[in-house]
Amino acid sequence: MEKRIIIAIDGYSSSGKSTMARELARRIGYVYVDSGAMYRAVTLFAMRNGMISPEGNIDTARLIASLPEIGITFEAAGADGVQHTLLNGEDVENEIRSMEVSSFVSPVAVIPEVRERLVALQQDFGRKKGIVMDGRDIGTTVFPNAEMKVFVCASPEERARRRYLELTAKGVKADYDEVLRNVVERDRIDTTREVSPLRKADDAIELDNGHMTPAEQMDWLMDKFHEIEARPA
Ligand code: DC
Repeated sequence: MEKRIIIAIDGYSSSGKSTMARELARRIGYVYVDSGAMYRAVTLFAMRNGMISPEGNIDTARLIASLPEIGITFEAAGADGVQHTLLNGEDVENEIRSMEVSSFVSPVAVIPEVRERLVALQQDFGRKKGIVMDGRDIGTTVFPNAEMKVFVCASPEERARRRYLELTAKGVKADYDEVLRNVVERDRIDTTREVSPLRKADDAIELDNGHMTPAEQMDWLMDKFHEIEARPA
C-alpha cells in the first residue's frame, strides 16, 4: 500500500504557508487543515458572545466554560477552490479573516485550555495520516512525529506586503503600516507565549521564501515530499 505521511508546515503569520500547504495537499491528494482558522473561529465565537471587550480584554473564564459549545469543521474546497471554515455549522470563512479577528486572535491563542482543545481536535484530524496541516506548533506539539516538517520564514515587511495585497484584493480597506504593526505584534505574542510558542522544531527543514516565486516554493516542497516519501518506513 502507498505510504501516507503527516506533513507539518509551521511559520510566522502571513508567510504564505497556508497557500503553500493547501496547494501541496491538492497536488498529492491529501487532506488540508488550516489550524490558524480554528483559533480564528474560537476568537470570532468569543467576539460574538461579548467575551472580548473593544479594548481586547478577554473574559477567559467564560470562554473556557463555553469551549464544549464551539464546533469547528471544514467544508471541502468549493467553486472558489478555498476550503471553508464552519463555526457550529455556519460558514465563517470570510469573517475570520477580518482585521478585527486578526488583532484579537493571538491573545485567545495563548489560553492553555483553548490550545488543549484545539490540539486534541487537530490530532483527531491526523489519525488516518495523509494530511497537510499548517500552523505554529504543528511540528513541535500537535504532530511531533510528523514525517515531514517545514518551517517557513520571511521578513515582517515582506509578509505585511503580502497580507496588505491579499486584503485589498478582497476589497477590504487596509493600511500598510497598520498591517505591519499587526504582523510584528502577532510575531511577538506567538513567539513569547508560555504554551507551545512558535519555534522551529529541531528536525524541521527551513524555507525562507522571501525571494521565491510561488512556483519555486511548490517545486521545493514537492522535491522534499518525494524524497521523504521514498524513504523506507
Ligand atoms: O495562521 P493564522 O494567521 O491564521 O493564525 C491565526 C493566529 O492563531 C495566530 O496569531 C497564531 C495562532 N495560531 C496558533 O497559536 N497555533 C496554531 N497552530 C495556528 C495558529
